[in-house]
Amino acid sequence: MEKTICLLPGDGIGPEILAQGVAALKAIAAKCDHKFVFEEAAIGGAAIDKFSEPLPKDTVAKCKASDAVFLAAVGGPKWDNLPANKRPERGLLGIRKELGLFANLRPALLLPELANACLLRPEIAQKGLDLIVVRELTGDIYFGEPRGLEVKNGLRVGFNTMIYDENEIKRIARVAFETARKRRHKVCSVEKSNVLETSRLWKEVVMEVHKDYSDVELTHLYVDNAAMQLVRDPSQFDVILTGNIFGDILSDEASVITGSLGMLPSASMGSDGPGLFEPIHGSAPDLAGQDKANPLATILSAAMLLRLGFGLTAEADLIEKAVRKTLADGFRTGDIMEEGKTLVGCQKMGELVTQAINDLA
Ligand code: IPM
Ligand code: MG
Repeated sequence: MEKTICLLPGDGIGPEILAQGVAALKAIAAKCDHKFVFEEAAIGGAAIDKFSEPLPKDTVAKCKASDAVFLAAVGGPKWDNLPANKRPERGLLGIRKELGLFANLRPALLLPELANACLLRPEIAQKGLDLIVVRELTGDIYFGEPRGLEVKNGLRVGFNTMIYDENEIKRIARVAFETARKRRHKVCSVEKSNVLETSRLWKEVVMEVHKDYSDVELTHLYVDNAAMQLVRDPSQFDVILTGNIFGDILSDEASVITGSLGMLPSASMGSDGPGLFEPIHGSAPDLAGQDKANPLATILSAAMLLRLGFGLTAEADLIEKAVRKTLADGFRTGDIMEEGKTLVGCQKMGELVTQAINDLA
């Protein structure tokens, strides 16, 4: 198979971790006889420094012309004082919108190899944690109009608009039910319908779409309760279906209780065109340039790229197996280090995974 992949290294640890993700993809290409052509484009702070904007037109064009987009992370203190529409994050929100990536899939999985890293009490951790947050990504209060900062009657006010139309809810609900069919057939829809009209519509539409998926169990939780249930007993969740802002918050919570923000990948998909694959963590400016970052979330994002972007299931499995083998062999970056294990840097961790890809049958 021949495919073009557009690389967006971004800021902070971005370039270091992406290099290891690319190394894994190259190892797969060589082993499984595929040809991956890599393009590169600027986004976030790196694009601001070079082109005075977080999402240059050329970047959008290159992404649209590729078969998949592989992004590392954006942002950093250097650009923190810029106005909202000029910040690095605007590059990320912009590319999601430009590519129509309405479905964000964020699996949170507690690997047995990393069970000790889990932040929950052992009796809760033992029940396991294997869920996926299906987060709507191109609507909600993130993009709703009107929005702004104004002075009204001598007082500064800030305002945003939470808004969904039924079609936006329908299409993300379908993604959640389809995802559940490939897993444990359970969807929990999360909203705040006791307070918000947007959420009342959300719940109503999700229930309508559910009629086409009677083999999937559907439950509903208010977002505050969902946040609480996630730490109380995350094993109850299979697929969590939710909107943009609630999904942003809950996916950080779901990931960090596995103990390893540096381990979790994500995929953002539209109805057609290239998907975008990225680790869920940020650019970690304090670690940048020191070869200390954990590249595994990025490498696992490469696996999602192969599976969901290109339909290469066996190749994706191979990357995931290689990561688990490397962990089972006792290698750890600083963020997941435990007593008795071997501490390695970002590049060494990437090399070990690549080696494991080459070695595994
Ligand atoms: C995420 C991030 C982004 C978001 C930021 C960087 C704009 O937190 O991908 O979860 O809020 O969506
Ligand atoms: Mg977030």
